[in-house]
Amino acid sequence: MESFRQSSGSERQWLQSPARRRALFALGGFLAGSPHVRAQLDPRPLKGHLRVPGLGEMMTAFDFEPVCFANMPLRLYDYMAHGGDSEWTIRRNRQVFEWVDIVAGQRLSADTIDTRTSILGLPVDSPILIAPSSRHGDLHPDAEAGTYRGASAARVPMIVANGPSMPHEEIAAAADGPRWIQFYPNPNMALSRRRLEGFQAAGAQAIVVTVDQQATRFERDLHDRHLGGNPPRTGANAGDDAEEEALLGASGPERYGLPVPGRLWYNWDYLDRIRAYVRVPMLIKGILTAEDARISVDRGFDGVIVSNHGARTLDYVPSTLEVLQEIVAEVSGEVPVLIDSGFRRGSDVFKALALGADAVCLGRAARWGLGAFGDQGVTRVLEIVKSELEEAMVLSGRASLADIDTTAVRTALP
Ligand SMILES: Cc1cc2nc3c(=O)[nH]c(=O)nc-3n(C[C@H](O)[C@H](O)[C@H](O)COP(=O)(O)O)c2cc1C
Repeated sequence: MESFRQSSGSERQWLQSPARRRALFALGGFLAGSPHVRAQLDPRPLKGHLRVPGLGEMMTAFDFEPVCFANMPLRLYDYMAHGGDSEWTIRRNRQVFEWVDIVAGQRLSADTIDTRTSILGLPVDSPILIAPSSRHGDLHPDAEAGTYRGASAARVPMIVANGPSMPHEEIAAAADGPRWIQFYPNPNMALSRRRLEGFQAAGAQAIVVTVDQQATRFERDLHDRHLGGNPPRTGANAGDDAEEEALLGASGPERYGLPVPGRLWYNWDYLDRIRAYVRVPMLIKGILTAEDARISVDRGFDGVIVSNHGARTLDYVPSTLEVLQEIVAEVSGEVPVLIDSGFRRGSDVFKALALGADAVCLGRAARWGLGAFGDQGVTRVLEIVKSELEEAMVLSGRASLADIDTTAVRTALP
């Protein structure tokens, strides 16, 4: 405060003035709200928590998220949580469930409820699958092997992502439940063929071709950039780092991620050509219009997954539940229609079934289970969602999945 004593009259006035105090207060508020400061709270190690809830205390899929969050560095959590641009579609993916009511019915006895069905000839206990997602190694040392063990224990099929954190063969060896593998189109036809044949050799019972690979910027991740960047990729994604480094030297639109080489270039002709390399059912993932669903079925896809990639592609696309009915009207009865993006509760699953979906895939919810409690967490998330679905069936008087039709819900979609 030496400067205070030496300062001139007007400076002294400024130092003591309420206007200065207000300005400092506003600066403090700005800093406290800044994502940069929030990022610096990382890491928030578990030992910093007074008590971490146990697996037995998890009541809903949502309960797993804060435990998962506390277990991992912020930038890895944000990689999972982020949506494209301003994350409007992320919010909409949850909001849509508020626009669909469940019609209460004659209460049934829980032991009359039957959630069994079959998807592309695969008998399943419930219409729930695990959506493909990359980098389970961010969440738990057991990575995809843990998710697969957890899913198999709950008798739920897992769709393994194109680029998992460990080799497909190691995942396959971890459990024996149903397992599909997702494939990202690659402009190199020889590489596409090698991957598709490799996935089938690794035991994929179906191939899911994703056609909406993300291409936007993720503002959350940009705010975390001073936390050390992403770790080097491993497994099938190892090559992506070199690709991204090359991009850093790029100019023009490529500099900002669009169009990224190897992404968003594919066309129907390519999809026709890879069909020859797939001998198991082949589904298309990332469909949001009846028109694209029609073309997919006409071109020989065996199933459609209505998805906006968990809002990780183009921001401001609608939630999937909003477009489900038009897609079902177009292709249902010809191929199974699956759906994902935003599903967290059994009642969410119930609503999608009522609007015509054959099954629902869980993305982040299953990841939270793995990140919170490893394979047991995955199993528990799946058990919770299934039991919530059963509860909705009991209270709406729908004993089997076939009974869950459009009369089971009342919609007020915008
Ligand atoms: C961290 C993360 C990674 C993902 N990676 C892939 C992927 O490699 N391939 C793919 O087809 N979808 C991927 N997805 C999208 C999921 O398959 C699914 O569409 C989405 O998670 C569903 O939304 P939800 O997370 O709100 O349930 C990923 C999603 C997340 C959250």
